[in-house]
Amino acid sequence: MSNPIDIFKDNWRQAKALNDANAHYCSLATVSKTGQVSVRTLVLREVTVDSFVIFINGTSPKWRQLQDSKQFELLVFWPTLMQQYRIRGDCSEVAVEAMKAHWASKPYESKIIDHYYAEHQPQTSALDSRETLLAGVNALKERYPVDADIPFPENAKGVAVKASYIEVWRGSDVDRLHERHLYLLSGNTWETRVLVP
Ligand SMILES: Cc1cc2nc3c(=O)[nH]c(=O)nc-3n(C[C@H](O)[C@H](O)[C@H](O)COP(=O)(O)O)c2cc1C
Repeated sequence: MSNPIDIFKDNWRQAKALNDANAHYCSLATVSKTGQVSVRTLVLREVTVDSFVIFINGTSPKWRQLQDSKQFELLVFWPTLMQQYRIRGDCSEVAVEAMKAHWASKPYESKIIDHYYAEHQPQTSALDSRETLLAGVNALKERYPVDADIPFPENAKGVAVKASYIEVWRGSDVDRLHERHLYLLSGNTWETRVLVP
């Protein structure tokens, strides 16, 4: 198999079948305007034919950082398979229609917090206290007691990372000479290099 996205999908199925605790997650590293690196865990929502899809909030630092800088990396590690993927590329916003379709299946509390970010405080901003958060959340729950009536907020964003650089690491317990392959997209073709482990 020479397409690393096909390799990823094939192994993702295996990691899920093995109930790998990491199978649903990835880490996203971004850089601020001042060069400060941030890394955090996210749910890996979907992998399409060419992109890795995550959902984040438009009020968050990571959204701002992705707008300000094209420098980021996604990391996936599955301990059950001892495999790591480092993914770079271009990111674009997922179409609002697709986000609206996802919104319908989002848990009630998660919908409420997206509205909290929009109306009260942006994600990751400092609170006066936990009570401040709960008061705002409760007010939103009173306004929207019925899940299906909560409107879609513009800040519910999806990001599709169109990969052009994928490094695959496969651990070897036998001789510690772990296998590393770098796949670089050149036009429509993935070129492969073997890396020193
Ligand atoms: C297991 C796990 C899954 C998470 N999934 C998401 C997610 O899908 N989207 C998201 O925005 N934050 C998710 N988070 C929270 C982020 O790691 C992070 O704390 C938050 O988004 C704020 O990030 P920022 O301040 O760097 O923007 C998750 C955290 C954990 C531990």
